[in-house]
Amino acid sequence: MKITSSVVLLSFASLACAQDSRQSRKPLVDSNSLRRTIKSSNLLKHARKFVEFSKLSNGTRVFGSAGHTATTDYLKRVLDATGYYDTELQTFPYLFSTGTASLSANGTTFTTGYLSYAPSGDVTAPLVVVNDLGCNASDYPAAVAGSIALVLRGVCPFGEKVARAGAAGAVGAIVYNNLDGSVPGGTLGEISRPEIGPYVPAGTLSGIDGTALVALINGGTEVVGDFHVEAINEERLSSNVFATTKLGDHDNVIVAGGHSDSVVAGPGINDDGSGTMGILEVALQLPKWRVNNAVRFAFWTAEEFGLIGSEYYISHLPEEERQKIALYLNFDMIASPNTAFFIYSGVNEPAGSIHIHETFEEHYVGKIRTALTPFGTGSDYRPFLDVGIPSGGLFTGAGGIMTEEQAGWWNAQAGVAYDVCYHQACDGIANLNVSAWELNTRGAAHTIATYARSLDGIPRPRVSVPARNLKLADLSYEERLHQACSHEVSVI
Ligand SMILES: *[C@@H]1O[C@H](CO)[C@@H](O)[C@H](O)[C@H]1NC(C)=O
Ligand SMILES: *[C@@H]1O[C@H](CO)[C@@H](O)[C@H](O)[C@H]1NC(C)=O
Ligand SMILES: *[C@@H]1O[C@H](CO)[C@@H](O)[C@H](O)[C@H]1NC(C)=O
Ligand SMILES: *[C@@H]1O[C@H](CO)[C@@H](O)[C@H](O)[C@H]1NC(C)=O
Repeated sequence: MKITSSVVLLSFASLACAQDSRQSRKPLVDSNSLRRTIKSSNLLKHARKFVEFSKLSNGTRVFGSAGHTATTDYLKRVLDATGYYDTELQTFPYLFSTGTASLSANGTTFTTGYLSYAPSGDVTAPLVVVNDLGCNASDYPAAVAGSIALVLRGVCPFGEKVARAGAAGAVGAIVYNNLDGSVPGGTLGEISRPEIGPYVPAGTLSGIDGTALVALINGGTEVVGDFHVEAINEERLSSNVFATTKLGDHDNVIVAGGHSDSVVAGPGINDDGSGTMGILEVALQLPKWRVNNAVRFAFWTAEEFGLIGSEYYISHLPEEERQKIALYLNFDMIASPNTAFFIYSGVNEPAGSIHIHETFEEHYVGKIRTALTPFGTGSDYRPFLDVGIPSGGLFTGAGGIMTEEQAGWWNAQAGVAYDVCYHQACDGIANLNVSAWELNTRGAAHTIATYARSLDGIPRPRVSVPARNLKLADLSYEERLHQACSHEVSVI
């Protein structure tokens, strides 16, 4: 047994050696060769897979869903099959919440929003108006007990109002807007507020509907509501996926990332299927060459819940390991249908970031005009910038509106969103500008190949940054949501 196993070990070892030397005899990667291998036909093959994955969970690849797990399994499997990378799953739990709310009262069904973290429930009870803004226990009349509390939005968090309603014995709580319209993306903010009271089934109404109901009730009519909340609140496990070249200098690593999850509402083929599949395809072509500097492809989970995966990675990485990351490249939405060709501006960012945006620009010369756009807080570059890692990336626009001037540059439609299907069920294959996707994936290939050859222009070693400088680290769940992908999320 012993002899046999050591013989086996020996032959594995020599096989590994032979493979390593074969790898290192490959030609050094160069931009033109790598760019030429990027074909839209291959990108679309991945896209058809991603659509299939979303069907495993009713049209979504939201983190922790079957569609998302199928996505991360696929990424790891096809990258493992190259033999060129060391791959790794970084798995951790995070709280997921989604739901719907509906209210029928006075013979009408009202348009009602769900408040994240509110429990499910099915109640029929009188609607009782809460005094003032419902921020004090004394605002809740005795009649709230056994009733549905109707509370005006403002001053204190939704979560506090709903918990106070619970403490007063309400069986449901509805917060109506202090503006005419509905409340986009409301959340109770904290998972529970035991110090105030229990959460009860909760939702939101528009200001117009809420004030009309209040006037009716205050006029002396008894209004009984049928209030129905259907919610899922649970911890879900999901993973970041990493694939790092075995070859190249591991003290000087280039990280290229995109997020593997979608929103609940749709399959996320542009957001961020396009960036994920773009760098996946670069990763599948790169093994034809060797690299001087190691390249790590990173597929972040739960970006749509507030950059959770990238923040988790950076905040769990010791400073010594962070120092080995020479630069970060982000690819989130690179095939929007009403296409902008934005490159993140390195001006006012960590030293080396301008060099990165100039490297991206080289790819587009003679092809299409590009425009610099400032980094914000809306994607996975944020934790890297926050610890001083020079960064760059491509972006074709989200829910924002294409200006007249931009429409002239890009032969696109002024006054229309860059991506009309942003965060919606229609973010499928038909939502992609496939030629822009190929062009931008070649832009990714150019920048990755350039830095995989040489880090000239990128300061190494980097000036040390404070051990904890993460702007997102201390934010609560709802604040993170607010930061991510320009979600409209409100706590108050
Ligand atoms: C599936 O998605 C559709 C819309 O895309 C929605 O109406 C339906 O309620 C969802 N079903 C489940 C079980 O989530
Ligand atoms: C009600 O609550 C608000 C906000 O917490 C507080 O500022 C105010 O003083 C309270 N009013 C009363 C009458 O208790
Ligand atoms: C209540 O119902 C009456 C009769 O249908 C209607 O005229 C009134 O507008 C309704 N009020 C509200 C707030 O729904
Ligand atoms: C799609 O991308 C191409 C570049 O590959 C661009 O020329 C074209 O204007 C884009 N289409 C739209 C509708 O924006």
